[in-house]
Amino acid sequence: MNEFYQKDIISIKDFNKDQLEKIFTSTDKIIQLNPTERREISKGKTMAYLFYEPSTRTRLSFDSAMASIGGNSLGIADISSSSTQKGESLADTVKIMSIYSDALVLRHPLDGSSRFAAEVSSKPVINAGSGTEEHPTQAIQDLYTIRKEKKKIDGLKIGIVGDLKYGRTVYSLLYGLGNYDVDVHLISPESLRIRSDSVYEIKKRLSFTESTDIEEHIDDLDVLYVTRIQKERFPDEEEYLKVKGSYVVGLDLLQKMKDNAIILHPLPRLDEISTDVDGTKNAKYFQQAEYGKYTRAALLGLTLNEDGF
Ligand code: NCD
Repeated sequence: MNEFYQKDIISIKDFNKDQLEKIFTSTDKIIQLNPTERREISKGKTMAYLFYEPSTRTRLSFDSAMASIGGNSLGIADISSSSTQKGESLADTVKIMSIYSDALVLRHPLDGSSRFAAEVSSKPVINAGSGTEEHPTQAIQDLYTIRKEKKKIDGLKIGIVGDLKYGRTVYSLLYGLGNYDVDVHLISPESLRIRSDSVYEIKKRLSFTESTDIEEHIDDLDVLYVTRIQKERFPDEEEYLKVKGSYVVGLDLLQKMKDNAIILHPLPRLDEISTDVDGTKNAKYFQQAEYGKYTRAALLGLTLNEDGF
């Protein structure tokens, strides 16, 4: 039996290096298959999505990934149009949606929401973003992008800049990178440093430096992972205004980087990468979004098929 069959995908911490590499190999396979072969993978299976927060890429990439492997999807993209408005609990909504589907993709503003949903769901739950805690499928996509574009992960110097306090993609990426031999430089405003309650957990997995100055290691980086300041998660708008626009990656900064360095971003991008970087060979964030469709097709294919594909 394929080890991912019926497995919840709640935290990237639940995956070891060997398992991540298996997912990457399955993603390579998805890319190589022709569309007819791909559509055989999850023919007749249904994925349900339940999004309590806005999303463009994550939901649509799950949707299009499911279609590409021959399955269907149904769900709630706008919670205000669902029975949640009548007061239905998350537990009941999840139970109902798992009756109508073979796997459930959930995005929710609360930490712990996916783990809770997995406890009440009769079908595997895939975490598509839980509060500020984690976004494991984004990390799989990010790691796959690095591996594909740099041909390796081990040995790289990786800078992560922006909102390290509230950015859930950062936490999943750091836990995932903990499986590899990498040098990590964290760059953020003082008030948006990595959360102190997670530092111990991250330090168990990898070592990192912290700085407020994006230029400090810039000429040495192989990967610069840029994140959006998560305005919606600030308890106080004044605090957001103080850090808004702290870092802008533009052509001037790019000139100080290695010629073959890559720039990643989980997107959506606001003003933290200027649009004139988009046309450079270093900008890989749109490519990264495309890989997200293939990594999610691989994850769904493995979750839904006992013998894998
Ligand atoms: C991210 C998220 O939702 O955490 N978006 C995404 O899924 N690509 C990042 C963000 O919103 O800034």
